[in-house]
Amino acid sequence: MNYILKTEKLNFSYMDGTKALKELSMKIPEGKKIAVIGNNGSGKTTLFLHFNGIHRPQSGNIFYRDKKMSYSSGEIKNIRKNVGIVFQDPDNQLFSGSVYQDISYGPVNLGWDEKEIRKKIEEVMNQTGTFDLKDKPTHFLSYGQKKRVAIAGVLAMNPEVMILDEPTAGLDPVFTSQIMELLNDLNKKGTTVIISSHNMDEVFSWADYVFVLSQGEIISEGKPEELFRDAEVLKKANLKKPWVLDMYDYLLNKGLATVGDNIPRTREELLNLIK
Ligand SMILES: Nc1ncnc2c1ncn2[C@@H]1O[C@H](COP(=O)(O)OP(=O)(O)OP(=O)(O)O)[C@@H](O)[C@H]1O
Ligand SMILES: [Mg+2]
Repeated sequence: MNYILKTEKLNFSYMDGTKALKELSMKIPEGKKIAVIGNNGSGKTTLFLHFNGIHRPQSGNIFYRDKKMSYSSGEIKNIRKNVGIVFQDPDNQLFSGSVYQDISYGPVNLGWDEKEIRKKIEEVMNQTGTFDLKDKPTHFLSYGQKKRVAIAGVLAMNPEVMILDEPTAGLDPVFTSQIMELLNDLNKKGTTVIISSHNMDEVFSWADYVFVLSQGEIISEGKPEELFRDAEVLKKANLKKPWVLDMYDYLLNKGLATVGDNIPRTREELLNLIK
């Protein structure tokens, strides 16, 4: 297994003394769909901001493709190009006048030629359903629209790792499914995708591998079907068992469902196993 990002005993405190990450070590497998879950304030955003060099560890190390991050200006530039991050709050991401200008900011900065930029912007606007918004000033957009434009702007740079901090929070059900599908497609083309989410059903049906954060520490990690069956971890991190798994385990107990080759991850897969 190749690990694209690694942290080693990461510690980070904010200016007011809040210890946000404690001795945090984790390895992100390349080419997978990763979810980081945990309560409000458990450290997810702080961790993500370390992955593309926005925060620097106060002690400990971060490795990108086995190379220790040294934080030289050249390297920071390289990391920001390879590891794209969509912030939790889109107002922290968007700044240019129009949607089109905002989405094209990254590629323009990377110095691509005009034709190439136009083609890429068109592609990501179609992927994120933002084409009709292209001439609108970003400050007039609704929250969900801003979120989609922010995602488009990061997609436009073709990152190797795409990090999305609560990508579907505030999106309607249709766009939520579209964004998760889009993340699947990107992953199929080889992008490592890392999300945080408070929606356990979404995480369960989507992720290949899950990390659980609690008070700045990783308290568990594993495949979703194993991790979400660990009652102790769920209790410790105040997490809810995904409904599909909860229902499946109930039906199994009552002898009303068959044991499939794979544990059902979606409603459809569950229905197929009900006797
Ligand atoms: N700029 C800051 N100054 C001081 N403390 C901060 C700052 N940003 C975050 N924190 C604190 O660091 C801890 C981790 O916060 P973080 O935003 O990383 O959590 P989170 O898991 O992303 O939470 P949420 O689910 O609410 O987004 C919290 O205790 C928070 O209050
Ligand atoms: Mg957060």
